[in-house]
Amino acid sequence: MPEIRTGRVRVAVLISGAGSNMAALVDAGAVTDASFEVVLVLSNKAEAGGLAVAEAKGVPTALLDHALFGKDRAAHEQAIQTVLEAHGVEVVALAGYMRLLTAFLVGRWAGRMLNIHPSLLPKYPGLDTHARAIAAGDAEAGCTVHLVTEGVDDGPVLGQSAVPVMADDTPASLGQRVLAAEHDLYPRVLGDFCRSGMSLPDPSPLRRGDARQPCE
Ligand code: GRF
Repeated sequence: MPEIRTGRVRVAVLISGAGSNMAALVDAGAVTDASFEVVLVLSNKAEAGGLAVAEAKGVPTALLDHALFGKDRAAHEQAIQTVLEAHGVEVVALAGYMRLLTAFLVGRWAGRMLNIHPSLLPKYPGLDTHARAIAAGDAEAGCTVHLVTEGVDDGPVLGQSAVPVMADDTPASLGQRVLAAEHDLYPRVLGDFCRSGMSLPDPSPLRRGDARQPCE
């Protein structure tokens, strides 16, 4: 007999900052019929504002300050792995986690680790995405949810959402518009991903640039 899943997929969200995407995921995972629940919020920075946000929402938190591990990335990631296992985590969602992960953690979570990036990948991997979109004269910007691989912002795209770039946009104003789109996109994509048994969507709409969903 195949196993029948009755519970929600247990998700950990990794953050380094304000955690607004994390909050959107926590809220989405708390509604009736959600396909996932956020069971842990983990930060690599003590000053991450998202830790207090998660605590206020009643979500267990963990702090693993990478600075305390010096240059020993392996030890830091092993510590993360231990906490994830202790919480029975099944899927990891990076949400403003500002530290590159090594092959160790990426490999352990291959196909089970998602990230949100504030550009329409493959455009503008890395930092300063909004300034780069404005400097290039792009008519639209947006965000991408993708599976995490060893390359930076380089894994298979699970969903994208586009927003217009206005003539008078600054990186900050465009960033606010994109961030609002992120808060809509990430819960939807993670929800679909967990509901589908954590398999990739049909490859035809998966081609980069074709996986966009309208921003509400
Ligand atoms: C978001 O723009 C996300 O795409 C990027 O970092 C930012 C995190 O914002 N990776 P927040 O901490 O979720 O508010």
